[in-house]
Amino acid sequence: MGTSKDAVPRAILCFLFLLGLGCKCLASELEATQTVTLAVDASPQLAQKIPDTLFGIFFEEINHAGAGGIWAELVSNRGFEAGGLHTPSNIDPWSIIGDDSSIYVETDRTSCFSRNIIALRMEVLCDNCPTGGVGIYNPGFWGMNIEDGKAYNLVMYVKSPEATDLTVSLTSSDGLQNLASATITVSGESNWTKVEQKLVAKGTNRTSRLQITANKKVVVWFDQVSLMPEDTYKGHGFRTELISMILDLKPRFLRFPGGCFVEGEWLRNAFRWRESIGPWEERPGHFGDVWHYWTDDGLGYYEFLQLAEDLDAEPIWVFNNGVSHNDEVDTAAITPFVKDVLDSIEFARGSANSTWGSVRAAMGHPEPFPVKYVAIGNEDCGKKFYRGNYLKFYNAIRQAYPDIQMISNCDGSSTPLDHPADLYDFHVYTDSKTLFNMKSTFDRTSRSGPKAFVSEYAVWRGDAGRGSLLASLAEAAFLTGLEKNSDIVYMASYAPLFVNNNDQTWNPDAIVFNSWQHYGTPSYWMQTLFRESSGAMLHPTTISSSYSGSLAASAITWQDSENSFLRVKVINFGSDAVTLTISTSGLQASINALGSTATVLTSANVMDENSFSNPTKVVPVKSDLSNAAGEMQVTLAPHSFSSFDLALAQSKLVAEM
Ligand code: AHR
Repeated sequence: MGTSKDAVPRAILCFLFLLGLGCKCLASELEATQTVTLAVDASPQLAQKIPDTLFGIFFEEINHAGAGGIWAELVSNRGFEAGGLHTPSNIDPWSIIGDDSSIYVETDRTSCFSRNIIALRMEVLCDNCPTGGVGIYNPGFWGMNIEDGKAYNLVMYVKSPEATDLTVSLTSSDGLQNLASATITVSGESNWTKVEQKLVAKGTNRTSRLQITANKKVVVWFDQVSLMPEDTYKGHGFRTELISMILDLKPRFLRFPGGCFVEGEWLRNAFRWRESIGPWEERPGHFGDVWHYWTDDGLGYYEFLQLAEDLDAEPIWVFNNGVSHNDEVDTAAITPFVKDVLDSIEFARGSANSTWGSVRAAMGHPEPFPVKYVAIGNEDCGKKFYRGNYLKFYNAIRQAYPDIQMISNCDGSSTPLDHPADLYDFHVYTDSKTLFNMKSTFDRTSRSGPKAFVSEYAVWRGDAGRGSLLASLAEAAFLTGLEKNSDIVYMASYAPLFVNNNDQTWNPDAIVFNSWQHYGTPSYWMQTLFRESSGAMLHPTTISSSYSGSLAASAITWQDSENSFLRVKVINFGSDAVTLTISTSGLQASINALGSTATVLTSANVMDENSFSNPTKVVPVKSDLSNAAGEMQVTLAPHSFSSFDLALAQSKLVAEM
């Protein structure tokens, strides 16, 4: 900011013209810096504990967030099931190497897996095949990221009446660069054989493909072809660098797997937990008709529970309650669906000896997953059979698992719910001004009744682009309102979390990735400044200024393993700079300049976004705060989010404990 070169002459002119009229124009022309006082009352008697659960994440299978995203499987349509049950079927994205004089492939229903019966029959027609052979290839999800020196585990099922050699290789997208290859000898027999082969890359290519080729006449069937990087998060199949982005948010809960993904446009295409567990080879996969793509369901119900455990986050299982976007199960016929959901809870929580707990144990997790929250449907409150179905699920779960907290789809923030619930869902996607002003929405909510789960919030459309600073500022202001109302707002999560940039169905999102790159949008970085809030103590703040309509603030005390901090967060949503005086009272410890920091999220233009070419254009910048004291002055840039961590003197805190 500062004073621009022509500002002084302009000001003098304005002054001379308008002095006699008592005009305030001088002030408005020059007052690019506002003076504001923020008082923080840190008296223990006014402090309010923020729930440990307040900030978490919502993971939906949308934008290829899971398949082709955090789930590290590199083969897409690994069981040839995506084309449907009617054969011949489309094998996309598989394709052939060779032409119709040298190779013929078609799907048939000869798989050894009864739940996913489609297999691929490949007939090689040439004996003097072209150099490199003919066969099939899979490009994965817009190309596989194959990296020099890394190992990739290929598993596939093959059947061939005659013995033959197959070459499996990882190559560039045109097949010309060979990154790894191995020969697999298939002994001629009529049964299916499981083949396992490790491939170690001798080069890097971000858009590679998996090839399976032969050099002479033969008929071979393939099914369930999987290529997994050896290096996944905790060996659990998750893409490490994307998980580390989540870990940096310190999420206290994981809501999964949707969203609309749970509902489906039609019930026949909704997520079915039972079809997504057990050995991966036996999962049928399904077409998610809301977000329009096939998933092999390698990332299934079990893996979501495992992910929650790996993140040390509470799992929140959102299940379908017999309602999709376009069809519904009549409450009179809902009982089997209720039983299905009870089975899903037994799968998670039952002992290893129970019917469904034993399936979980066989998958490698004898200890139960501690599911304490379930959401009965998603965004279905207004639907014809929602309430009727809801009550059937609610009563059955309450009886079987009295401790499980149940989440209703009906918004109880302005009117009381007409049915029992422990929590209710609150979703908001809106423009930046509206969300900024919604920081006081829950001020008006009744303090009795179920608590709010703001399970989806974001600024979207014009103000957000593909993830603008502007959106993140409004969202940050909204979150300060949730902190202040955390006596009745129990949980909150941004949505959607991930987007593969090859399938940007929903914009904006928190984390953008492709096969090998990723970055956080400003909305992602904004959330990192709230990660210490869950479980912290909240203190009242008062802003004194005529500019307060453009500001939002909150204050917490929190501790890391060594130190305690008073964190003051201030969002300057307006276009003026602010000289801010932070005055504190009631603190039980003195503030140390040493160890105090300021972290600021801002940019030259409020619509600035990050991108693969400039992933750190809008990221928080941390600096030391040398003037930290009982009362201190800082400058807030226009359109900025600042977080001041004031280090509290340990000796005093300890002495007073
Ligand atoms: O977050 C994207 C979608 O928005 C979710 O699937 C749905 O719950 C909401 O409408």
